[in-house]
Amino acid sequence: MSTPLRAAITAVGGYVPETKLTNFDLEKMVDTNDEWIKSRTGISERRILKEPGKASSDMAVKAIEEILRKKQLDPMEIDCIICATVTPDMVFPSTANIIGDKLGAKNAFGFDLGAACSGFLFALTTGSNFIETGRYKKIIVVGVDKMSSIIDYTDRATCIIFGDGAGAVLLEPTTDGLGIQDSILKSDGSGRDYLHIKAGGSLKPASVETVMAKEHYAFQDGQPVFKFAVKGMADVSAELLEKHNLTGDDIAWLVPHQANLRIIDATANRMGLPMEKVMINIQKYGNTTAATIPLCLWEWETKLNKGDNLVLAAFGGGFTWGATWLKWAY
Ligand code: UT7
Repeated sequence: MSTPLRAAITAVGGYVPETKLTNFDLEKMVDTNDEWIKSRTGISERRILKEPGKASSDMAVKAIEEILRKKQLDPMEIDCIICATVTPDMVFPSTANIIGDKLGAKNAFGFDLGAACSGFLFALTTGSNFIETGRYKKIIVVGVDKMSSIIDYTDRATCIIFGDGAGAVLLEPTTDGLGIQDSILKSDGSGRDYLHIKAGGSLKPASVETVMAKEHYAFQDGQPVFKFAVKGMADVSAELLEKHNLTGDDIAWLVPHQANLRIIDATANRMGLPMEKVMINIQKYGNTTAATIPLCLWEWETKLNKGDNLVLAAFGGGFTWGATWLKWAY
């Protein structure tokens, strides 16, 4: 019986900026406190890209360069770069193009994918499907967000949550049964009212009025998002397990989007997983949107074993949500 061609993650890279923004720093900026933030979200600090002139592409390049170093890969060998982000360097051209230029990946085509906090999962699934066609051998999937560029640091509903970072993976073909096995991805655009940026798109182009009204910052109505996220992320993860007759015992690691520790807890519970099997770094980085999941893989890389079953799960703006089951390949 022949094993189907699948995509495997064969390397991981990550990058977080050095500057830390702690809960205590935020106490001086808005009406909040360390105790509230930690107990409601699990976050203690986040990283902020402070250097002028630096953008999402610069963080992505650093994460991908780590992969190139580890794999001794020439950038000319990359076939495609898929960049998941909601904070592109510019509206156009795509950040993937800019990344390709900065890396010297002249043979790669690239594009951005916007699915907010589920962006990495949507991009991973897209890249994996490209590999499964047999046409592409080396695809970079990078999740990156410079959330500090769209956060209002006078709005305590959002500024306590988000941080900056980038995580990337290399996808290569495999026929040994490992790699990405299946994904269930979902969207519901009616959720756009609860989490969005009002202006700067074609609906409401930038104007003096939109700037004065602070409509270029991320808006979040936290409670409804929280409710949908708890249900969405837990439901889709459970659905993926059931579809493949898996139980919590079969899963080595849950790799959840890092939006709120309470959402992560609910998902792990629903899957029957003890917290020792859940990757959590929200306390250090906050919610880096498209970067949370690859940043977890990056930090846990040395603890992963070949053949480990991982479930990656996310929920985010859109609404978008999903779960991916993969077998770690190295
Ligand atoms: O990653 C993309 C998807 N996003 C998410 O998954 C985020 C989902 N939402 C959340 O994680 C949570 O809703 C938040 C962390 C954003 C907020 O937590 P919450 O438990 O839903 O708080 P809340 O908005 O219901 O507010 C509870 C109380 C309110 O006071 P009263 O009305 O009870 O007196 C708020 O005014 O906490 C107050 N509050 C704060 N207090 C201190 C709200 N924000 C803050 C704050 N510091 N930063």
